[in-house]
Amino acid sequence: MENRLYYGGDYNPDQWMDQPQILAEDIRLMKQAHVNLVSLGIFSWAKLEPEEGWYDFDWMEEVIDRLYSNGISVNLATPSGARPHWLADKYPEVLRVDELRRRQLFGTRHNHCFTSPVYREKVRQMNAALAERFDHHPGVVMWHISNEYGGECHCPLCQQAFRGWLQEKYGSLEELNRAWNTAFWSHTYQSFDQIESPSPIGESSIQGLTLDWRRFVSHQTTDFCRAEIRALRDAGAKKPVTTNLMYYYHDINYHELAQELDVASWDNYPIWHKQAKSETALDSGMMHDIIRSLKKAPFLLMESCPGPTNWQSVSKLKRPGMLEAASLQAIAHGSDSVLYFQIRQSPGGFEKFHGALISHYGGDDDRTYQECVEVGDDLKQLAQVSGARTEAPVAVIYDWENLWAMEGSMGPRNQGMYYKEAVLKSYKAFRRQGLNVDMIDMTQPLDSYRVVAAPMLYMFRDGFEDRAKAFVKNGGTLILTYWSGVVDENDRCVLGGTPGGLMDVMGLRSTEIDALYDWEKNTLIPADPSAGDRCYECSVLCQLVKTTTAKTLFTYGKEFYAGTPALTVNSFGEGKAYYVCADAEQDFYTDLYRKIVLEAGVALPFEEQLPEGIEVNCRHNENGTFMFIQNFGKQRFSIPSLPGWEAVFGSMEDELSPLGTAVLRMS
Ligand code: GLA
Ligand code: ZN
Repeated sequence: MENRLYYGGDYNPDQWMDQPQILAEDIRLMKQAHVNLVSLGIFSWAKLEPEEGWYDFDWMEEVIDRLYSNGISVNLATPSGARPHWLADKYPEVLRVDELRRRQLFGTRHNHCFTSPVYREKVRQMNAALAERFDHHPGVVMWHISNEYGGECHCPLCQQAFRGWLQEKYGSLEELNRAWNTAFWSHTYQSFDQIESPSPIGESSIQGLTLDWRRFVSHQTTDFCRAEIRALRDAGAKKPVTTNLMYYYHDINYHELAQELDVASWDNYPIWHKQAKSETALDSGMMHDIIRSLKKAPFLLMESCPGPTNWQSVSKLKRPGMLEAASLQAIAHGSDSVLYFQIRQSPGGFEKFHGALISHYGGDDDRTYQECVEVGDDLKQLAQVSGARTEAPVAVIYDWENLWAMEGSMGPRNQGMYYKEAVLKSYKAFRRQGLNVDMIDMTQPLDSYRVVAAPMLYMFRDGFEDRAKAFVKNGGTLILTYWSGVVDENDRCVLGGTPGGLMDVMGLRSTEIDALYDWEKNTLIPADPSAGDRCYECSVLCQLVKTTTAKTLFTYGKEFYAGTPALTVNSFGEGKAYYVCADAEQDFYTDLYRKIVLEAGVALPFEEQLPEGIEVNCRHNENGTFMFIQNFGKQRFSIPSLPGWEAVFGSMEDELSPLGTAVLRMS
């Protein structure tokens, strides 16, 4: 990946191999658009193995050769994302069983049983054959493992694997019963064989079971991916591997899956028209940062759409300039590619109306194609950014297991806990200061950060409280919020006071939590009126606390708990710990985090706080430090004078118009 950003996307020529002129024309149009990478063979199993054990790879080789001789590399897929008919007919165990215990018929995709030994073996043979044939090809630069892993299977094989996984985890049934507190409602298990995955027609009330099932699904998917990669490696494959991850995908702990990968990648389909562009950009930006933080290294934007998608209820056209802004946003956040689904539209089938670089019309004079040529041109100009890393002085914790735990917990609000929204508020508050932000989970080291925000960490796991304590003790600033440290990793309540293990660090104890109806609000009032702070609103959840050593900075304005602490700070060791007691409005977080980062001595790229919608990201490599400034707001933005920086894309002097991007470099 030296000094070139990848540009291209998924290409599925198996649909038009009988029309060789299309392939020739596609290559011409790809070259003209500066395409240098295509993902090939993602859904080609039926063509690669038309009959069991009979591999037909010649057509694939011809495509790879032709692309390579035209300067286009290949990200070669393993085809496990969709199976051929013969495979499902002969071996029904490869078909998934749903939570109501119904075996699915053949159809659609992304629906194999991830435990089935037959499916694993067929995939192993296919991957090995592909590796032997193609890994050494100079045109193949990377492996695209399967496609968007997801979903779950409740078949007897998966039940058996789940029981085995539990046995290994808990050692004994006694320990499992304790961990899940099954004495409640007389649900005590008497044998591992009685354990069934959660189901609406069966067990759905043991939260430890549900949580462990989520973990098992994540584990089993990861294990399947690991087996796919092992098959390639055992056959001698040396090229790096990736698999395409999805937007805030719920069911897989991506920190776990990413450990198997050489490069992280994801598929981004922002819906630009439903809310302010600044909010959409923020939401995509946070996901880019989650993906980048998985490997703390440059990632790949594996899929995005040059035009409209075809799966939204209303698939609007991308307005002029959106494609470029969204594409460069990925690069700004650490991607080394802009790749599309798809290079050419399918002539028929489920995705025939999905946007593509090349439409059914097939010419080079339509708007989308021309915008794609511009993006290709931009990436050539920005080639020197490739491989550049992102360093973040601050981090926000977003933790999959915590998300799962909070969902089923039957607590103060069973709908609308707003975990992701709470995380976004912290993320936005840092981003408004122009800072790069790492998005980490609870298991990661904290010591490289100056400030760490940990919103709504309902569950503490894997010794997080010890790491958090050491972090503050050694001079870090921790921001914890309401509904934190309530349960352990099995969803068992912490006894003796919360936030569990951090009461001394926070200098307080949470006593009660008030849930608000959607239409209710409370207010946050500065404790010291002379400090010049204003009042803010809060909603959803209001934690009541009793301070010991913490100082109260804000109090509640209403209810019987008016006048009690709503924001506190505590000095602990060399550091500080803030506790935000309620789901405060965005401005509260933005204003607070500005003070906190200044107080913690974090260097800001601009002196001023960024206006709404202006995004700043920095990446650095041997060619220098690159500052991306993007405008997702409504107003034009004049870039402040920044001595030492030169523009390598766009201009520093002109105002940045909405959807505009400037890239500056300091060598
Ligand atoms: C996903 C899939 C692709 C395609 C696109 C359509 O990201 O990976 O195969 O279906 O969606 O947007
Ligand atoms: Zn199964």
